[in-house]
Amino acid sequence: MSENGPRTLIALSGLPRSELESVLARAETFLADNAATAFRDLLAGEAVALIFCEPSTRTRFSFELAARRLGADVLAPEETASSRVKGETLEDTLATLHAMGCRHFVIRHQADGIMARLAAGLPAGSSLVSAGEGTRAHPTQGLLDAFTIRQHRPDLARLAVAIVGDVAHSRVARSTAAALAKLGVKDLRLVGPKALLPGSGELPGVLESDLARGITDADVIIALRIQRERMSTAELPDLDAYRKQFGLSSDRLQRHAKPDALLLHPGPVNWGIELDAELARSPNCLIREQVRNGVAVRMAVFARLQEGLHAAA
Ligand code: CP
Repeated sequence: MSENGPRTLIALSGLPRSELESVLARAETFLADNAATAFRDLLAGEAVALIFCEPSTRTRFSFELAARRLGADVLAPEETASSRVKGETLEDTLATLHAMGCRHFVIRHQADGIMARLAAGLPAGSSLVSAGEGTRAHPTQGLLDAFTIRQHRPDLARLAVAIVGDVAHSRVARSTAAALAKLGVKDLRLVGPKALLPGSGELPGVLESDLARGITDADVIIALRIQRERMSTAELPDLDAYRKQFGLSSDRLQRHAKPDALLLHPGPVNWGIELDAELARSPNCLIREQVRNGVAVRMAVFARLQEGLHAAA
């Protein structure tokens, strides 16, 4: 959340560890009791707008569930049916919804840099959460990944974590790596074909273009989707060659990673490309747990933002 009062969550890199810890601790309480009525009024009387300029299933619906469970009204204009198709700017959309009393904005957008621009012009007394910004950040995904890993392996400092796949175009990799590094993971590896690795030092972690080396003795493996929508035709990898070199299977995990290595993926998964379909049945595959935890984590983010607005009022 932003330093001068938690009014925005647009990236995890600048977030103090204490704030990250308090969101995760809050998420624990929501997870333990998220069907109970104790939290129903936290956002009572508030409206939350979900503005998704890119497709989404997990993030979109878990933000909606989180807002509803905290008692908020939810406004979720369809991009193709909103006045944005008539030329209304996103800034105007926010100001218009704010004029109706909406104070919380959750936004997904393909353009890097747009969240900071929108945050700078945010109507007074309102909050903004990034639900995914270009290749730059997906902070609530980073939080829920860290939350899920910590549930199973609480001592993060002792873990070897490999993020495998199209790291270069992945906002998830950026946010999850930032969260894990902040929470004490020291052995963080970014693994993928050279063409899909980021520049050195762009995000925390050591670059590795050999899969076997990258996942050797790993405790946690986070597989990524190839972000075809963020590549030019010339950049698109040959999917068959990718699967042969970097696709994860039980056999590959058993040969190289720790026997009980956890497997995560932010979704949506291209089964048969980055992950063999058989891995869905593995007891160490945490993909559904990530999705379940996403609701509690997003409830916690709303709670912190609401408190920030109260504190600033
Ligand atoms: N992980 C993730 O962002 O999934 P969606 O695109 O379905 O929201």
